[in-house]
Amino acid sequence: MTDTVIRTESLTKIFEKGKKREVVALDKVSIEINRGEVFGLLGPNGAGKTTLIRILIGLLTPTAGNAWVLGCDVTQDIDYIRERVSLLPQEAGIYDRLTARENLVYYGGLYGIPDDDLHNRADRLLDTVGLREKEDYQVKGFSGGMKRKVLVARALIIEPEIVFMDEPTTGVDTIGARVVRNVLKKLSSEQKRTIILTTHDLNEVAELCDRVGILNEGNLVAVGKPSELEEQFKAADLEEVFMGLVTGEGVYGQ
Ligand SMILES: Nc1ncnc2c1ncn2[C@@H]1O[C@H](COP(=O)(O)OP(=O)(O)OP(=O)(O)O)[C@@H](O)[C@H]1O
Ligand SMILES: [Mg+2]
Repeated sequence: MTDTVIRTESLTKIFEKGKKREVVALDKVSIEINRGEVFGLLGPNGAGKTTLIRILIGLLTPTAGNAWVLGCDVTQDIDYIRERVSLLPQEAGIYDRLTARENLVYYGGLYGIPDDDLHNRADRLLDTVGLREKEDYQVKGFSGGMKRKVLVARALIIEPEIVFMDEPTTGVDTIGARVVRNVLKKLSSEQKRTIILTTHDLNEVAELCDRVGILNEGNLVAVGKPSELEEQFKAADLEEVFMGLVTGEGVYGQ
């Protein structure tokens, strides 16, 4: 039996920009994501990916429609949801004046996890992302990619049921990106966690994602396994599917 952990129904978000202008960031998006899936959210800049994630963790309220996470309505039971999910934010979110280890332990402490457990988990996670030797340095001296790795580790310290990774490998070097991808693979295969991943790297999607949803201007234009989408759109690869749906260019082997 598949266990749906995220469901949206005609989810809509409209941002008001000045008196007469508005942006429809999400337009009646209906989607289901199952437990244990690595689900890729794809789409060009401004497509609505981050907006969708922010609604699912209660940082934004929908304009219309509904969304449930772990069976709970995001507009009603957000505390229950927040204890069980975590987010690697696309931007910021890190405490520059804390060290790498302190960032992890402080965040985990907010969830009431005992100190001993936190330090054990931090040991393991800092090893995994290759920052153990730098763990006692303030994060403000870290490069962009190193900060990203701290955030990946921080997102995992609460051992969430669902983890939202908003561009986890953006700005991370080739070796670091490999590390992050391996962490995500392990999380999915060994711990059966659900991962929602956004990325602009379609090779990463092909490597990691069980299914993908493609957003374009707030509309969900395709959902399925990469191989199913290639077949459905008679495309050679995911890039061709993506380009065809998003730009209408080079459509499907013509
Ligand atoms: N807080 C906000 N206030 C006003 N408009 C916003 C806000 N957040 C997002 N938008 C608008 O909503 C649309 C969707 O933005 P969103 O950040 O969800 O896109 P994205 O798919 O995550 O893009 P990217 O790939 O660049 O991260 C954009 O037009 C953006 O300008
Ligand atoms: Mg985004």
